[in-house]
Amino acid sequence: KTIYLGPFVHSFSLTNLEICGKGVIGVDEKGVIRFVERDSSLEDVHSKHDEWKEAEIVKTQDNGFFFPGFIDTHTHASQHPNTGIFGKTTLLSWLETYTFPLESSLSSLSKAQTVYSNFVSRTLSHGTTTCAYYATTHVPTTNLLADICLKRGQRALIGRVCMNTMSPEYYRDQSVEDAVRDSKASIDYIRSIDPDGSIVQPIITPRFAPSCTATCLSALGALHKETNAHIQTHISENKPEIQLVQSLFPTSKSYADVYDTAGLLTSKTILAHAVHLTPDEISLVKSRDSKISHCPASNTALTSGCSPVRELLNAGLTVGLGTDVSGGFSPSILEECRQAIWVSRFRAMNDGDEAKLSTAEALYLATRGGAQVVGLEDKVGGFEVGKEWDAQMISLGEVKEGGEQEGKFEGPVDVFGWESWEDRVNKWVYSGDDRNTLAVWVRGRLVHTTGRYQQ
Ligand code: GUN
Ligand code: FE
Repeated sequence: KTIYLGPFVHSFSLTNLEICGKGVIGVDEKGVIRFVERDSSLEDVHSKHDEWKEAEIVKTQDNGFFFPGFIDTHTHASQHPNTGIFGKTTLLSWLETYTFPLESSLSSLSKAQTVYSNFVSRTLSHGTTTCAYYATTHVPTTNLLADICLKRGQRALIGRVCMNTMSPEYYRDQSVEDAVRDSKASIDYIRSIDPDGSIVQPIITPRFAPSCTATCLSALGALHKETNAHIQTHISENKPEIQLVQSLFPTSKSYADVYDTAGLLTSKTILAHAVHLTPDEISLVKSRDSKISHCPASNTALTSGCSPVRELLNAGLTVGLGTDVSGGFSPSILEECRQAIWVSRFRAMNDGDEAKLSTAEALYLATRGGAQVVGLEDKVGGFEVGKEWDAQMISLGEVKEGGEQEGKFEGPVDVFGWESWEDRVNKWVYSGDDRNTLAVWVRGRLVHTTGRYQQ
């Protein structure tokens, strides 16, 4: 049993961020939160919960607080080596120029071992405790990614990518049967290594409508019915892509309708981007209870557009954040919060101030929203009794008296000691990075620490 002692911050709702300056959270040996006490001392808690007297104590450090682990609802582990490499391309030319050549090379187990273990380390170090990953079309290396996540203790949805048309000869499924057989093989493997899916789960992954024939999409819809696995894909990312979908599926009412017709719009479906959905598509997605992964860094990098997140939220859609590496240039959901806030401000320049996201809203999307997107809202996303301890210990560092740096943490944030807790959280969101994430837990298991973590 462990008692986590110190301030904690988490979302109650989209706009309501709780900042508790003096918290005591008890986590049992299974990693489940058993009590959350506010404005209490350790002595109060020991007298109230007698059986916790022997529990290990983990305390926050200098200007520190506990925060729920981040949830990355859309990223491509296979594209990690291309981070920052996109030039001036847009989606379709970027795929041809940079993405398909790299992904095809991940048939190599040794290369995949290097790329995937690096990326899992990288996302964990940024406080990402749950990640929805795209791998590649290759089953052995997709399964290797699942092995790595399970071993390292990162919760993950892991998808073997399906693409049987409009893809290069050197990197495609040769038939619908291949796509289905290989998807099934990966689903079975991932379920065999973690039968209750408590850490890793499979996710059916048609790359996007242009790279799958209608028959392939329908077969994957049927595979969802058969396996009840999650589904992830891309939707309405940029305008030439939408036109391409119209020309490839001329009888469909819309991009969203292509997926719906195939049985792929379900409550377990994660749709990445959703930059240019029409009002009819928004209603359709809402009626199917499909989820949205907002990927603002990628949408800016590939000049896809500024997704109208306020509209999506007002329509009642469930939204989380996705780093979309390597369309996106950072593995950090904290960076994605900033990008979401920036993009909302660009929207506000035309749509009005209501479009702006607040810090609290961005942090909600990064945690609670993301948890709903990946179907883990009963387990993670906030600190309540019964939820699991997926958390990060944040520290902003010591106050540098007289500007003295000697021996002090040279992180990216300067605190002066007079800031309110709300101001400190804002400083973290706008200028913090992985140096501020001292330790990360998933289900109570310590999965990452930095040298500054002292316990
Ligand atoms: N659409 C189809 N494939 C991809 C991909 O790998 N990244 C992004 N951002 N969009 C896609
Ligand atoms: Fe993507």
